[in-house]
Amino acid sequence: MNKISPQSLAAKKAKGEKFAVLTAYDATFARVVDEAGIDVILVGDSLGNVLQGHTSTLPVSVEDMCYHTACVDRGTEKALIVADLPFGSYNTIDDTLSNATALMQSGAHMVKLEGGQWLCESIRLLTERGIPVCGHLGLTPQSVNTLGGFKVQGRDEAGARRIITDAKALEDAGASLLVVECVPTELGQRLSEALTIPVIGIGAGPQTDAQVLVLHDLLGISRRIPKFVKNFLADAPDIATALENYRVAVEQGEFPGPEHSFD
Ligand code: KIV
Ligand code: NA
Repeated sequence: MNKISPQSLAAKKAKGEKFAVLTAYDATFARVVDEAGIDVILVGDSLGNVLQGHTSTLPVSVEDMCYHTACVDRGTEKALIVADLPFGSYNTIDDTLSNATALMQSGAHMVKLEGGQWLCESIRLLTERGIPVCGHLGLTPQSVNTLGGFKVQGRDEAGARRIITDAKALEDAGASLLVVECVPTELGQRLSEALTIPVIGIGAGPQTDAQVLVLHDLLGISRRIPKFVKNFLADAPDIATALENYRVAVEQGEFPGPEHSFD
């Protein structure tokens, strides 16, 4: 049991304290992220892009996720470890429960899945069985083929309302955290105000309760760097300092700036 829990993160939101989240996929980076005081390590299926060289997250398997979650677990002492359920691994209730169990047995403390109201029954069953859940709304990369590309979501009022309705449904079903990706700043703020659970933004403006980035983006070494990313290594003498600067910038509300956000 690591020091950070869903309860301690909820308490931070209640006190108005922001927190930082970062991806890691191996023991060494997990240790550096953990030692930088970052509260949550996400073993994201973004490893399909940054480790495996794919152009989407669709090829990532449960086996891949379990392997990297176990690596991260060995490098982590304090942070809460959230692991992604990959594409196709939560289409049925039975698959959801067995694949989430495998991630938890590999060292995850929480699982993350992408989607809205259709996931509510799964979330209820997972939490009843001792598996905390993080939702993921807005740009959901596993649905890139139905979304028609990696585009900002919820720009019109109907789309924004749909995302808020989904978010409340996930919270009511028992989700402990919510990631919201690539939405206008105003929607990021509305979501954070509408929910009791912490909302973790990526390309969702500065008003969310927390921020997440992909480690390789923050270090400036990804092939394609999205607008919402800042290269924290550019102004730091080493990786450990870059990660600490990211944490402090998030906690003090200095990152993201308007240049990293969408209207
Ligand atoms: O896979 C991932 O890294 C993610 C974050 C971008 C939120 O889901
Ligand atoms: Na992901």
